[in-house]
Amino acid sequence: MVKDSENPRNPYTAYDIRNKFVDFFLKKEHKKINSASLLPENDPTVLFTTAGMHPLVPYLLGESHPFGKRLVNYQKCIRTGDIDEVGDSTHLTYFEMLGNWSLGDYFKKESIAQSFEFLTKVLNIPADRIAVTVFEGDDQAVRDIEAYEIWKSQGLTENQIYYYGKKENWWGPAGQTGPCGPDTEIFYDTGKEKCSEHCGPACNCGKYIEIWNNVFMEYNKLADGTYTQLRQKNVDTGMGLERILAILNHKDSVYETDVLHPVIEKLEEITGSTYKEQNAREFRIISDHIRAVTFILGDHKGIVPSNSEQGYILRRLIRRTIRMFRKLGITDNKLTEAAQTVIDINDEVYPELAENKTFIMEQLTREFILFNKTLDVGLKKAEKYLSELSGGEVLSGESAFKLYDTFGFPIELTKELAEEKGFKVDYNGFLEKFLEHQEKSRTGAESRFKGGLADNSEQTARLHTATHLLNGALRKVLGDGIYQKGSNINAKRLRFDFSFDRKVTAEELKEVSRIVNEAIEKKIEVVCEEMTVKEAKEQGAIGVFENKYSDIVKVYTIKEYSKEICGGPHAENTGELKQFTIQKEESSSAGVRRIKAVIGTIE
Ligand code: SER
Repeated sequence: MVKDSENPRNPYTAYDIRNKFVDFFLKKEHKKINSASLLPENDPTVLFTTAGMHPLVPYLLGESHPFGKRLVNYQKCIRTGDIDEVGDSTHLTYFEMLGNWSLGDYFKKESIAQSFEFLTKVLNIPADRIAVTVFEGDDQAVRDIEAYEIWKSQGLTENQIYYYGKKENWWGPAGQTGPCGPDTEIFYDTGKEKCSEHCGPACNCGKYIEIWNNVFMEYNKLADGTYTQLRQKNVDTGMGLERILAILNHKDSVYETDVLHPVIEKLEEITGSTYKEQNAREFRIISDHIRAVTFILGDHKGIVPSNSEQGYILRRLIRRTIRMFRKLGITDNKLTEAAQTVIDINDEVYPELAENKTFIMEQLTREFILFNKTLDVGLKKAEKYLSELSGGEVLSGESAFKLYDTFGFPIELTKELAEEKGFKVDYNGFLEKFLEHQEKSRTGAESRFKGGLADNSEQTARLHTATHLLNGALRKVLGDGIYQKGSNINAKRLRFDFSFDRKVTAEELKEVSRIVNEAIEKKIEVVCEEMTVKEAKEQGAIGVFENKYSDIVKVYTIKEYSKEICGGPHAENTGELKQFTIQKEESSSAGVRRIKAVIGTIE
C-alpha cells in the first residue's frame, strides 16, 4: 500500500489519515478498538453497521467496556439510505468512519477542543475554513449555548457558528430506540461564494462539506417516542474517511481518493472508456457498489444474495452494478475483476477480504449467471411496459411485480428504469401483488425490503442469554464443529444461524430445547468477567476472537451450559427466561441452518 506523500497525485492516503487519527487519540489516553463486523451481532435495530457507535450501544447505555472509557477506531460502515444518492461527489453506500468515544468520561469541552486541534494542528486545515452547527433547542432538549460558547473559546467567530433544529443537529438513535442526543457538526468551507443570504452549512449548494459529527449522547429514546436521561453522558464522534481525504487532496469527489480511484481506473481498463462527466454516474455507482458488496461478502458471516434482509440489499447492489456495466456496454461478468481491485486496495487493513476471496468471487459469479439469464428479456419487457405509458402515468404494481417475480428485477431497479424515462412506479400496488403472492403480512413485506426494527429492552437482553444457552446446547447435541454464523434479536424472538450441513432432526431439536429449559429451571446466575483473549481461549470460551491476544474482553458464563466472549448485556439469572420454545428450524444458506425461538410463558 502507498504510504503518505509517495503518491504525488494523492499526497494524503487513507493509510496515513487512519494512523494520524488513531495516534492523536491514543496520545489523549484513548484505547484503539478493532473495526467490528458490518453485520451487527444481536442488534435488531438495523441490517448493517451504520456508524462506529453501533457496536458500542451497550456501553453507551452504561455497560462497562473492557478497554475503559476512552475509545478510538476506524469502522467499516454500510448505509443503505443513501443508495439513491450514490453517483454524486460525496455519497457512498460503503464508507469508513473514523471515531472517538467518551463513555461517561469527558464531555463537550474536551471533545470540541480535541476535534479542533486535530483538524487545525494535525491536518493543518486553516481555522477560517471551518464552520460548525449547534443545536438550537426545542421542547425536549435545551439550546446548546454551551457548545456555542466552547466553539467561540476555540477562536471561531460568530459567523462561523450556526444554530439549527432537530433535523440538522440531533443524532440518533441508530434504529427506533437507543442512545441519542444533540450534536455539533463540523463543516469544511470550500471558500465558494454563498449561494444566497440564507446559505449556511445546511445548504446543499456545495459551499460547505460536512466532515465530522460530535454527538453529545445523554438521552435514550424509548419505544413510545419519549426520551430519558442516560445513566452517563457520552461523546460519540464520526468523521467520514473518504470525505476528509477528498478535501485534504483538493479533489472534487470521494472517487478520486486512493481508496476508490484504483477502481475507477480498473473500470476504464475494462470498458476502454475514459472516466468523464458523461459517464461519471455509472462509473461511480459501479465503484461504490462493488466496494460495498465485496466488503459484505468478505465479512466472515457468509451472507449470500437472497430475497430478504441483508441478502436482499446485497442482491440489489450486485444487480444494479450489472445493469450499470450494461449501460457502459459491458455484458460479460466483470464483477470479479473489479472486486479484486477492491481487495487489493484494502486487504492490508481488512485481511478478511483476502481470506474470503474464494467465497466473494463464487457468489459474484453465481449471482451474475442467475441474473444474466433473465436480464435481456426482462429489460425488453420493462422497455415495452414503459413505452406503453403516456405522460403522467405510473408503471402498475402488477408490471413491477412481474419484473420482480419473473425476471428478478429488484423493485428499486425497476423504479430507476422508470425514472430514467420520466415515470414513477406504483410501489403500494407492487407490495399488494407481492403479498397476494407470498401470503405474508404487509409489515413483514415492508421489513423484507427495508429491514426489521425492534428495541433495546430487558426482554432483548434475556433473548440474548437464551441465544448463548441455545448455542451451548447445540454444541452439546450436534458437536463442537458448529459455530455461530449470525444472530438477530427483536423484542419477540431470537434468530440464530449456525454452520451445519443437514437438517436438524426433531429428536435433536427436542434435546436442545430440553437442555436450554433445564438451564432455565436451575435459575443459574449469568456471570460476567473481564480477561485477556488468551485467558478466554484457555478457559474454552467460544465467540468472536477478533481482538489481539493480549486485549481484555468480557466473558459471560452460565455454569455448565455456556461460556462466550460477548459485549452483553444479558439477563442476570437464567430463571428470568421462564421457558424456551423453538419455533422453526430451516436452511439459511448453503451449510448454514437457522433457528427461531421465543422465551417466556406461552399464552
Ligand atoms: N453516530 C454519529 C454519526 O453517525 C457520529 O459518529 O454521525
